[in-house]
Amino acid sequence: MSAENPITQEAVDSAVAESLALINAATDLASLKAARGVAVGEQSQIAQLNAQLRNLPNELKAAAGALIGQARGSVNAAFAQKETEFAAAEEQAKLAAESVDVTAAAEPARIGARHPLSLLQDTIADVFVGMGWEIAEGPEIENEWFNFDALNFDADHPARAMQDTFFVEPVDSHLVLRTHTSPVQVRSMLERDLPLYVLCPGRVFRTDELDATHTPVFHQVEGLAVDKGLTMADLRGTLEHFARIMFGPDAQIRLRPSFFPFTEPSAELDVWHPGAKGGARWVEWGGCGMVNPNVLKAAGIDPEVYSGFAFGMGIERTLMFRNDVRDMHDMVESDVRFSEQFGVSI
Ligand code: DAH
Repeated sequence: MSAENPITQEAVDSAVAESLALINAATDLASLKAARGVAVGEQSQIAQLNAQLRNLPNELKAAAGALIGQARGSVNAAFAQKETEFAAAEEQAKLAAESVDVTAAAEPARIGARHPLSLLQDTIADVFVGMGWEIAEGPEIENEWFNFDALNFDADHPARAMQDTFFVEPVDSHLVLRTHTSPVQVRSMLERDLPLYVLCPGRVFRTDELDATHTPVFHQVEGLAVDKGLTMADLRGTLEHFARIMFGPDAQIRLRPSFFPFTEPSAELDVWHPGAKGGARWVEWGGCGMVNPNVLKAAGIDPEVYSGFAFGMGIERTLMFRNDVRDMHDMVESDVRFSEQFGVSI
């Protein structure tokens, strides 16, 4: 009988042993899955014995089928048990890997630092707010009229040329990125009541390449006073007070005749900087003057009744010589280590 019936107990035991050996050799869920594919796959002894079932005479089929069924059952049971073991081990490993050591010292969070340009801008604003001045702001995308015309720039003034000013397309929109904070003077005169004392800090734009002393985006602060009877002496006194708070009680200022379309007379403002690195010296700080009557008129103010003074300076430039910052790149690169050097006040 065994000659005709290859599905003997021994053959089935050997087939089961082959499959279990494969399953037991698996080391994790992935290799277990692969092992099962081989252990019951077409080439396995179990599958081959099973294939012979249909050649058996009918009266032997039931018993042989039962043997093969038991064989499959024990292979499946071994597989299921291994699968449970591996799944539990993998779960355990994952939990261990993701566990949080609540006793570990936390990494200190960097709180960052305010940028020295912001600090300096605030310090300047405080000086003027302390004298009763107001802070005024205007748009960075400015109408050409406010940026140039109302400030008495000629239609062919060189500062309007493409190489200095960023024009907003289309050019006939007459919008520019403001090249200075002076347009806020005009906006303030149109929007506010007289007398007027405003300080206008803000971002300005010029078509300069970034290098050690230039940047296409920088900051200025503009001052404007319009009142009855203001003279150059008021301008001088205001700037001297400002200079002494910024550069110490020994600071002095000096006005050199100059030209700006929006002031008449106009002056360059120099400051005697007692604490300058390398020794006390005069430093060019900004521009100033008495508001040109044409500018007052453009803002609807009668120059026979009112007079005004104005001044403007760069904040980056001030930070450079006041706090000995040598390279503009440090100011624009936003490395917190640069800002941290200045602390919380400046
Ligand atoms: N707007 C001038 C500039 O950007 C600076 C300036 C000069 C402002 C004289 C003033 C002023 O208010 O009176 O170079």
